[in-house]
Amino acid sequence: MKHWLEESIFYEIYPQSFYDSNDDGIGDIQGIVEKLDYIKSLGCNALWLNPCYMSPFGDAGYDVADYCQVAPRYGTNGDLEHLFGEAHKREMHVILDFVPGHTSTEHPWFRESCKAEPNPYWGRYIWSDSIWVDVADYEGISGSLRGLYPRNGSVAVNFFSNQPALNYGFANPTEPWQSTIDSPEALGTRQAMKDAMRFWLAKGCDGFRVDMAGSLIKNDYGSVETIKLWQDMRAFFDREYPDAVLISEWGEPDKSLMGGFHMDFLLHYGPSHYMDLFRCEHPFFGREGKGDAFSFVETYQKNYQLTNKKGMICIPSGNHDMERIRKYLDCEELKIAYAFLLSMPGVPFLYYGDEIGMRHLELPSVEGGYDRTGARTPMQWDNGKNYGFSKAAGEMLYTAQDMSEDAPVVSGQMAEPDSLWHEIQKLAVIRRKYPALCASGDIEFVYCEKEKYPLVYLRSDADNKILVALNPGGEDVSCACPYEMEKVIYTLGGEIKIEKGVLYIPGECAAFVSVL
Ligand code: NOJ
Repeated sequence: MKHWLEESIFYEIYPQSFYDSNDDGIGDIQGIVEKLDYIKSLGCNALWLNPCYMSPFGDAGYDVADYCQVAPRYGTNGDLEHLFGEAHKREMHVILDFVPGHTSTEHPWFRESCKAEPNPYWGRYIWSDSIWVDVADYEGISGSLRGLYPRNGSVAVNFFSNQPALNYGFANPTEPWQSTIDSPEALGTRQAMKDAMRFWLAKGCDGFRVDMAGSLIKNDYGSVETIKLWQDMRAFFDREYPDAVLISEWGEPDKSLMGGFHMDFLLHYGPSHYMDLFRCEHPFFGREGKGDAFSFVETYQKNYQLTNKKGMICIPSGNHDMERIRKYLDCEELKIAYAFLLSMPGVPFLYYGDEIGMRHLELPSVEGGYDRTGARTPMQWDNGKNYGFSKAAGEMLYTAQDMSEDAPVVSGQMAEPDSLWHEIQKLAVIRRKYPALCASGDIEFVYCEKEKYPLVYLRSDADNKILVALNPGGEDVSCACPYEMEKVIYTLGGEIKIEKGVLYIPGECAAFVSVL
């Protein structure tokens, strides 16, 4: 039987900003339940929710205070369980965000670990054995907290200063205070994380997007031990919840997939060249035609080989950490970008609001968002109060909204057959209709040259060979192509033809054709 990921298209929800069902200005879980049919109608059949656990929200919930309790502003554990059930009724899946690398400073484990006297949580975080010995300078540690707590030591942080690093040990310990990876305290942390995942899996959660998955074990050159740690986690999944999935924020698919993750994301940092396509001065998907997909394709192919052609590399439209894709591409350019995103192997991820081309706003930081805040604004549902996001007074909203006259809204785009929304919907239907276009269909690049257009690749399975030809640039172009056209499956912006081994494609055009 096919794994549910095979035909999945994910929709990422930043819960704060999706839909407010209780008029307090902040989105909530019941709001997500009310919009499940909408998400399904767009063509997405799986959800990733950013962290919705108890938190002081110093980093929008990535600073967890209790892994097993929903933050009251979003609802209750019962509400989340209800969401799992409602999603399953609609044949949809829900994954939660899991943050195993650090907690907030308000987590009870951390409070215990700060005490002067040893206790069972003393080893849960990475502490040096004297306040005069800093822990900041080791591989995988981004800083330290010193002099704030009764305990005589400094403690490592993973990201912001309010995110103390959990202790999974050091692969190559050099100091007496550095735990080995098989020490009781390091194994204790690992066990606590398994228990937290088990807690949600037992309630119906379908898996996790794992935050900073590659960062758990310190001084781990080449991620050798971190890979083994995740193999152990995957074994636990396979034993207890074989349908559940693990998707990593790692950005290095070869390592992540070796660790047992089902999929890895390409990110706005790291070696993938993801940004060349959508977010740079001259993105490949811009109609000016000055972009370059070559380095992206080169890296992609390398990873594809390294992951045994499993192809489980997720290319998101955006996420809560990146500028909105609409900052660089207008809605017409975006249609061709989506023809790419929805025809690549792996599982597509659509960030809420990207389906209508919501804009990136310049806003003051909210909840540790800084320049990411502009991509986290409340969803624009319709032209009513607060764009239909909430009935609360405007100043109570999570962030300000796009006040421009032509701010895109869902209702407007659903009513307009030529909209970006409808193009995405059409592409989602086509993707599911042809298994060759789904997650594990093969890919072979047919044409991709440095600083040249088009980009052409073949997706295939035992039954079909589908050629995807994309020419985002404004000029008509051609390239060598060893296939014969059989049937046009999808076309946008013009017709392509293949004659005597040459493919001709007009400017600003995308096409999928079955070939022989
Ligand atoms: C990555 C998350 O996506 C980001 O939002 C968060 O701030 C950091 N990890 C720290 O958890």
